[in-house]
Amino acid sequence: MSVLVTGGAGYIGSHTVIELLEEGKEVVIVDNFSNSNPIVLDRIREITNEDFKFYKVDTTNSDELEVVFKENNIDSIIHFAAYKAVGESVAKPLEYYTNNIGNTLNILNLMRKYNVKNFVFSSSATVYGDPHSCPIFENFPLSATNPYGATKLMIEDMLRDICKDNDSLNIAILRYFNPIGAHISGLIGEEPNGIPNNLMPYITKVAVGKLKELSVFGGDYNTHDGTGVRDYIHVVDLARGHIKALEKLNTNCGLVTYNLGTGNGYSVLDLIKAFSEACGKEIPYKIVDRRPGDIAMCYASTSNANKELGWKAEFGIKEMCEDSWRWQSNNPDGYTTAYIDEVTSVAE
Ligand code: NAD
Ligand code: WQD
Repeated sequence: MSVLVTGGAGYIGSHTVIELLEEGKEVVIVDNFSNSNPIVLDRIREITNEDFKFYKVDTTNSDELEVVFKENNIDSIIHFAAYKAVGESVAKPLEYYTNNIGNTLNILNLMRKYNVKNFVFSSSATVYGDPHSCPIFENFPLSATNPYGATKLMIEDMLRDICKDNDSLNIAILRYFNPIGAHISGLIGEEPNGIPNNLMPYITKVAVGKLKELSVFGGDYNTHDGTGVRDYIHVVDLARGHIKALEKLNTNCGLVTYNLGTGNGYSVLDLIKAFSEACGKEIPYKIVDRRPGDIAMCYASTSNANKELGWKAEFGIKEMCEDSWRWQSNNPDGYTTAYIDEVTSVAE
């Protein structure tokens, strides 16, 4: 039996595939490299000494995706494949709805056809909109303020509906807070296209000399130092949360929803300080206006995941910063330069 991982070449997907392989699972990855690089697959093999099947398939293409279901004995799916940039989703809403909703519908229809019962969905803390208080519990009101968030909310609603209709399905909705960090090997990590939108990849690009200085968006929030507070979680902890979610689904639990965060809030200035200590350099920054759409504070209650999954984030902010820095300093151009020498073959 295999676990199908859509978007398994991406940032969170690649780290999760490593954890799956280390658990002895058979893994089938599907990715179209729209936001990732084939070299990641070689790096996963290098780290784990294990192999997996790979299909270069666009999950919006149902016919091509069906081949994956036909050729493999899939019992669980972890569905990462999506577009994820909030700002881009405002500029290209149709692309976001087509990719994120369209591909999920294909997968859910094929799950039904091939009788696959277990499904893990990558949701996001963005579904809480601007929460009335922190920590955020899973039963807080849900809302979307941009097309990206709307796709996550719509898919969550779809999953709730199909579970009502079919009590043999087991679905875990995982709401990630702010993943940062990288595998301890320094071989895989986050590689955003162009100028990063998110804080950690921006900081690492400044530290490695690719960008001049960081703009801190807003210094007048109602937080301990005026800058925005978030729940940063190490991507390896997040990846391990998926292993625990699969174990939970195997108990025939129906639909479950969990926050995956640490439960701690750090401000932008806290993160800059922790990162400076990790890399031994000052990070030049200036405080500028707030970024439209940002909220002051967002951190998780993790008690449900602790209790029901037996999962708890183990890495602290220091390790998150050290591991982000190891990845970025070993790969100042991401996978791009390595790609030319290293990539040998990509199985299709
Ligand atoms: P990522 O862009 O690194 O990974 C997504 C992967 O999916 C990429 O490899 C991309 O090539 C692939 N993909 C996208 N559309 C595809 C398609 N139609 N067919 C095949 N492959 C396709 O993103 P990530 O940070 O690893 O995020 C993974 C998931 O987690 C996404 O669903 C994202 O919305 C969600 N999420 C991410 C964050 C975050 O901050 N990174 C936070 C909350 C939720
Ligand atoms: C973190 C903090 C910024 C960049 C986004 C998505 C969310 C989820 C995770 C997918 C905020 C500040 C940032 C910069 C800054 N993704 N900042 N200067 O906005 O919490 O969440 O990514 O689901 O849906 O909205 O993350 O990393 O962009 O910002 O000062 O150059 O850093 O204002 O306070 P965010 P982020």
